[in-house]
Amino acid sequence: MTVKIKVENLTKIFGKNPKSVLPKLKMGMSKERILAETGHTVGINNVSFEVHEGEIFVIMGLSGSGKSTLIRCLNLLNRPTEGKIYIDGENIVEYDNKKLKEFRQTKAAMVFQHFGLFTHRTVLDNVVYGLEVKGIPSEERYSIARKTLASVGLEGWEDKYPNELSGGMQQRVGLARALANDPDILLMDEPFSALDPLIKREMQQELLDIQARLKKTIIFITHDINEAFRLGERVAIMKDGIIEQIGTPEEILAAPKNDYIKNFVRDIDRSKVLQAKNIMFKPSALVSVKDGLKIAIKEMEQAGISSIFVVDNDRRLEGLVTIDHCIKGLKENKKLRDLLIQDFHTTDPEVYIHELIPIATASKYPIAVVDEDKKLLGIIVRVSVLSSLV
Ligand SMILES: Nc1ncnc2c1ncn2[C@@H]1O[C@H](COP(=O)(O)OP(=O)(O)OP(=O)(O)O)[C@@H](O)[C@H]1O
Ligand SMILES: [Mg+2]
Repeated sequence: MTVKIKVENLTKIFGKNPKSVLPKLKMGMSKERILAETGHTVGINNVSFEVHEGEIFVIMGLSGSGKSTLIRCLNLLNRPTEGKIYIDGENIVEYDNKKLKEFRQTKAAMVFQHFGLFTHRTVLDNVVYGLEVKGIPSEERYSIARKTLASVGLEGWEDKYPNELSGGMQQRVGLARALANDPDILLMDEPFSALDPLIKREMQQELLDIQARLKKTIIFITHDINEAFRLGERVAIMKDGIIEQIGTPEEILAAPKNDYIKNFVRDIDRSKVLQAKNIMFKPSALVSVKDGLKIAIKEMEQAGISSIFVVDNDRRLEGLVTIDHCIKGLKENKKLRDLLIQDFHTTDPEVYIHELIPIATASKYPIAVVDEDKKLLGIIVRVSVLSSLV
């Protein structure tokens, strides 16, 4: 995994003389006391993290926790008080104006909560704007803008003005404008929070689809934990300018670090976060098609199970046999291959467990988790589906 963004000990203090406040902050003085005693506001306090190339990294937290301050540091809209921000290995805090301008025009683009569109420009001219600033020739920039608008589903809307569009469509324009420059990094500050729930879901899906195609590095801010867990490959949860916990949604759900985090994840629908791969386990026993019935019976007896998956030499799934059939088959001189059952369920490791619940409850046999080559990755039994939900 390539590290795209590396943030090291980043602090942002707002006020007349931020640097003078640093020693107090480092001594552990609280945000409230610093404000009361010095009139300075701590935006973010000694934050460090890495973002991988091609990842959707979500930052979440309550209002005032420092999310916007942090994301605005990543393109230096906020000048950090202290700390380093490496992007592709370069500390952008040290950039001069020329390099910073180039960085903003080519490498990182921002999508804002309230769209931030030019009301007096058409949809097309909004998207063209960044390309215009960059000095792309007219014909080419219009062609890119049209293509980008089409890619977010806005073909046919080019000549409208933003106020003629719904909120969701306006945010698509915001997204198209950011994408038009083909930046490596998208900085998205609560881009969907002004949208109503249905449109919001639609836009989340759209973003995931776009991301599957374009593989940008995305920093996405939200205060909605469900949105965070739906979109984020990893999520950082902030409080009072500090990152309290960073992890994949599964890691955070499995081990919330403190009561603050527990409070956040309490309302999460775990069945929509956990996937088959998170709850599958290694089968306690397996047999190969070449093994005889006796071995299959012995394996089942030893493991205390009443059915067992049968695989080939490459661990590809051939079927399943039950202990009853095997015992009967042994008497009738049958081969293991003759007794294979196929009426069990298989699943892809990425399937969310809410889709597996009905299958698991109705099924007599464990669910087999297989990859695209039908290789057995693990199994899921009914209890593991149900116990993962509590
Ligand atoms: N330009 C500024 N000047 C002074 N203080 C600021 C400024 N911007 C942010 N702050 C302060 O920094 C802290 C973090 O604010 P920030 O806007 O980053 O929070 P947030 O997590 O984005 O909140 P929200 O969810 O409401 O957008 C707050 O205490 C805020 O008052
Ligand atoms: Mg904010």
